[in-house]
Formats: sequence, structure tokens, C-alpha cells
Amino acid sequence: MHIISFVTQKGGSGKTTLVIHCAVAAMQTGARVLLLDLDEQATAEAWYQDRESNTPQLIKIGATDLEKALEAANTKKYDWVLIDTPGRDEPGQAAAIRHSHLCVIPCRPSPADMKATPTTVETIKRLGKAAAFVLTQTPPRSYRIKEAEQGLGVLGMVCPIHIVMRNAYQDAQGAGLGVTEFEPEGKAAAEIRALWEWIGNKVGKVRYAKETNLA
Ligand SMILES: Nc1ncnc2c1ncn2[C@@H]1O[C@H](COP(=O)(O)OP(=O)(O)OP(=O)(O)O)[C@@H](O)[C@H]1O
Ligand SMILES: [Mg+2]
Repeated sequence: MHIISFVTQKGGSGKTTLVIHCAVAAMQTGARVLLLDLDEQATAEAWYQDRESNTPQLIKIGATDLEKALEAANTKKYDWVLIDTPGRDEPGQAAAIRHSHLCVIPCRPSPADMKATPTTVETIKRLGKAAAFVLTQTPPRSYRIKEAEQGLGVLGMVCPIHIVMRNAYQDAQGAGLGVTEFEPEGKAAAEIRALWEWIGNKVGKVRYAKETNLA
């Protein structure tokens, strides 16, 4: 079972958006997926309530229940657990990081988002976890993307797939769907499938390196 958390203390950067669309994309590959919502705002849970399907399974829990929820997920043989976290420095953030094999850090290519990331990175490093930045809400093309990639590259690994600002993300979420269900042939769906493939690959490599003491 692979555990991935979506974390950053910067609010509104795209944690919930990535988590729900990735969870659906993962489920569509035939995997058993559990989504844990650790955010009091419960945005992911609201999306789940709007959904007709009850997969990927979503449970809203508090930080103190995380360990128990993960044990239960392991017993139930989930392949993936994706954790949505609050956009504030709360116990939920550190708890999610502590239990993850990979932390995904969404970041808009804006000075405010970039300035906020070192705090999250510090926590991840302190807990000895692997992390990758994903640029979100980007313009389709802009020098800002390259600049952001270079800036974040100093702090850690940057995912080569960028998530562009697109209405499809919001419209799919509003309909209780993932973009890969809402507009399977659309650009947003292609981005999310590519992102999920990249994350899946990366977590496998990270775990192999750790388990063979190469990391
Ligand atoms: N790629 C995108 N294209 C269009 N809108 C987006 C995209 N990513 C996020 N948004 C929108 O930006 C807003 C914030 O995104 P989201 O809720 O995913 O951020 P968050 O990091 O979970 O925020 P919080 O810290 O408050 O939990 C939402 O209204 C969401 O629909
Ligand atoms: Mg959120």
C-alpha cells in the first residue's frame, strides 16, 4: 500500500484539486483507492457527497485517527491512500507527512506560493520523507513556469508535468467527478493521467531506494 500526502501550508494552492482528480485517475487504472480528508474545511468530503459513485472511498478523519485509519486501510488491502491536508500548520499536516511514502507539494508559480514552500519542505526534511513539487494553476505557457521550476529545483524535486489553470477542474469538482470522468478526452484529463503516472513511478522508485538503503 502506497501512502501519498498532498501538503503545503499555503492555502488555495491546489491540494484538494490534485487529490480528488488523482484519486479518480488512480481508481480508473483498476486500483483500490482510499482518500483521507484531514482538513476541517472538508472540501474533498463535499465533493464526495456530490458523487454518485462511492469509489474512490473517502473518509474524513482527525489527525489523531490517522494511524488507525491507515492500519484499517492496510487490512482492507487498499493499493493507494491519498491524504488531503489543511492549508495551515496544523497537527494534520505533520501527521500526514510522517506516514507518507511521498509528499506532493502543489505550488502556483507566484512569489507568494514560492515563499511559503520552504516551511513545508523543512518539516518534510525533518521527518526524512521524499517530496515532489507540482506546479499548479499555471498559465498554458509563460516564462514564469521555467522560473518557478528553477526556483523550486533548489529546494527539491520538481515534477515535469504542470497543471494548467482550466475550468474543467472546477466544473468536474462541482459535478462530483474527476476530470478524467468529466471530460476524458480533454487536456485536463491528459494532464492528470500523466501526473498520476509520474507519481506512481516516483513512489515506486523512492520506496525501492529506501528499502534497499540506497536513499
Ligand atoms: N488547475 C486549476 N484550474 C482551475 N482552478 C483551479 C485549479 N487548481 C485549483 N483551482 C481552484 O483554486 C481554488 C483552490 O484550490 P484547492 O481547493 O484545490 O486548494 P487547496 O490547496 O486545497 O486549498 P486549502 O488550503 O484552502 O485547502 C479552488 O477554487 C479550485 O477549484
Ligand atoms: Mg483543500
